Amino acid sequence: MPGQNINKPTPINQEVVWDKTKTIISKTDKFGNITDVNQTFVDVCGYTANELIGKPHNIIRHPDMPKIIFKITWDNILAGRNFHAIIKNLSKSGKYYWVITDFEVGRNIMNEVVSITARRRAIPDYVVTDHIEPLYQTLLKLEKIGDMPLSNRYFKGFLEKQGKSYIEYVMSILEGTSAANPSDMQFDPIGGTNTTDEISDDIFSEEHPSENTNITQRKSFFAKLFSTN
Ligand SMILES: Cc1cc2nc3c(=O)[nH]c(=O)nc-3n(C[C@H](O)[C@H](O)[C@H](O)COP(=O)(O)O)c2cc1C
Repeated sequence: MPGQNINKPTPINQEVVWDKTKTIISKTDKFGNITDVNQTFVDVCGYTANELIGKPHNIIRHPDMPKIIFKITWDNILAGRNFHAIIKNLSKSGKYYWVITDFEVGRNIMNEVVSITARRRAIPDYVVTDHIEPLYQTLLKLEKIGDMPLSNRYFKGFLEKQGKSYIEYVMSILEGTSAANPSDMQFDPIGGTNTTDEISDDIFSEEHPSENTNITQRKSFFAKLFSTN
C-alpha cells in the first residue's frame, strides 16, 4: 500500500528555510495520491520524488492542522470547485512550513474530477501569528473535546460573524484588511453557544451566496498571488 512504509517524523518547532519566491507544486489523483511534484516541493519537504509519488498527500500532514480545514477542502474539490486554503506542512526533518494553497480541479471529458493540482506560495509571518495560528489552535482544541462537529460549529460562527466565506477571510487577512481575531469570539463548547448548526456549509465554499467579493475579483486576487515562478 502506498504511504505505509514512511515513518512520520516527530515535529520540531522550527521553520524550514526555503526560497519563498518559489511555488511548491504537486498533482494528485482524485483520491489525493501524489502523481507528480516539482523540484521546489522536493526541496522544501525533504522527501525525494520517488518517496512521494504514489503516496497519499497526508505524508506531509502536520498534527497542528485541524481536521475541519481538510474536510472543507475535500468537500469543495469533490464538488468540482477550485479552492484555496492556508496549510501548515510537516517536512521530513520534522520542521514546518506554512503556505497558501491553490487547488485546481482537473476533469475528464465526462466532466468528472480526475486530478487535482495544488500550487503553494509562502505567506507573510503576521498572517500566521496574528490570525491563522490562533484560529487553527482553537479549532484543534475543540476537535480534541468534541471532534469536527464542535470545530465546525465554532468555525461557521466565526465566519458568519464577519459575513465572510473561508476564502474571503483568507483574502482579507492576506490583504491586511481583516479586523477580526479568533480571540474576539466568545464560544462555550458545552452549551449556550452563540452559534447554531443552522448556518449553511456554503460558508466554507467558494460559492458562499452572500459573498460581497465577486468571482472575478477573487480570481484576479489569487492569479496575482500565484503569478510568479
Ligand atoms: C492536490 C492536493 C494537495 C494536497 N496538499 C496537502 C498538503 O500540502 N498538506 C496536507 O497536509 N494535506 C494536503 N492535502 C490533503 C490530504 O489529501 C489530506 O486530506 C490531509 O493531509 C489530511 O489527512 P488525513 O485525513 O489523513 O488526516 C492535499 C490534497 C490534494 C488533493
